[in-house]
Amino acid sequence: MADLSFEHVAKRYGDVSIIEDLNLHIRDHELMVLVGPSGCGKSTALRMIAGLEDISDGKITIGGRVVNDLPPKARDIAMVFQSYALYPHMSVRENLGFGLKMRGTAKAEIDKRVDNAADILGIKHLLERKPRELSGGQRQRVAVGRAIVRDPAVFLFDEPLSNLDAKLRVQTRAEITKLQQTLGTTSVYVTHDQIEAMTMGHRITVLRDGRIQQVGTPQEVYEQPANVFVAQFIGTPPMNLLPGLITDRQLSTPAFTIPARWRDGHVVIGVRPEHISRGEMFHAFVDVVEPIGHESIVHLNVNEQRLVAIFDPHETQRAGETIGLAIDAQKLHVFDKATEKTLSS
Ligand SMILES: Nc1ncnc2c1ncn2[C@@H]1O[C@H](COP(=O)(O)OP(=O)(O)OP(=O)(O)O)[C@@H](O)[C@H]1O
Ligand SMILES: [Mg+2]
Repeated sequence: MADLSFEHVAKRYGDVSIIEDLNLHIRDHELMVLVGPSGCGKSTALRMIAGLEDISDGKITIGGRVVNDLPPKARDIAMVFQSYALYPHMSVRENLGFGLKMRGTAKAEIDKRVDNAADILGIKHLLERKPRELSGGQRQRVAVGRAIVRDPAVFLFDEPLSNLDAKLRVQTRAEITKLQQTLGTTSVYVTHDQIEAMTMGHRITVLRDGRIQQVGTPQEVYEQPANVFVAQFIGTPPMNLLPGLITDRQLSTPAFTIPARWRDGHVVIGVRPEHISRGEMFHAFVDVVEPIGHESIVHLNVNEQRLVAIFDPHETQRAGETIGLAIDAQKLHVFDKATEKTLSS
């Protein structure tokens, strides 16, 4: 077990800066999710921990030890990739035990650890099969199993679920969460899927263009987004953003005008779809209603401002109607228009 830290870490490819001054501490036993759009540097950060990429500046420590110059196999980490990376000609048992065998671990010990990992993952009946005889979900379990048998100080996951279909993804997501809770191994989990980030992470680090936007628990990141980017990235459907102007303690937006406690100026107002309800604050035209079973996603238009709301599916609005709405003013997010940083907390 170990904690892990990035201190002033930078990564450049030639003149191109990918990560600049990354500072992040991941606690012992913690599952930290790195989330952000494609190309923001998540895999690069993970590969630097693993030692698969050099770092251009700063230092990375695992359990207090600087690992900058240690080769991957000396870092006591195990990595699970999106592509599984199993050896096709080896059985599941051989795949699971291969890393230990290469390190010269005794056969009896390898068998014990492989059986234990297979037990934890429910793949005992598959041990004699080859990877091509497994489903995608089973292959991913073997890939996770290979990390478990190593009993490393840190697990690194790079989008391990993205090759699975939607249903299997939800199931495997819960399995990895449970596994991490059981083993307590410090883990860094990379994804671009904000639902995965929210459901799996003890804490989430939101990255954009190689820079940290916010670090916090899922609840903190959802309820107190630090800026417009985080506000839009976390939550489905995404937060509504409206232009706003504050003058004389009044906030006006294209949809509504309410008393305001912020100083005069241009702002961006964020309203989560789940914080819009039927009411009498303003009226909106219903463009489209998308029922998805347990709720309906309702697309609205008020003075050319588009809004998305989530309603109970038993509400009776229909496309083409005009309906009365209210928003919960306590739950509004207010961002400075120029800096895009939050003013609301
Ligand atoms: N070997 C390389 N040489 C030059 N640029 C690279 C190299 N590897 C990655 N990059 C660039 O670094 C940036 C970050 O890449 P990275 O793979 O870390 O993104 P990511 O956040 O993991 O994205 P994704 O969600 O698509 O996997 C990208 O702009 C990518 O083009
Ligand atoms: Mg990646």
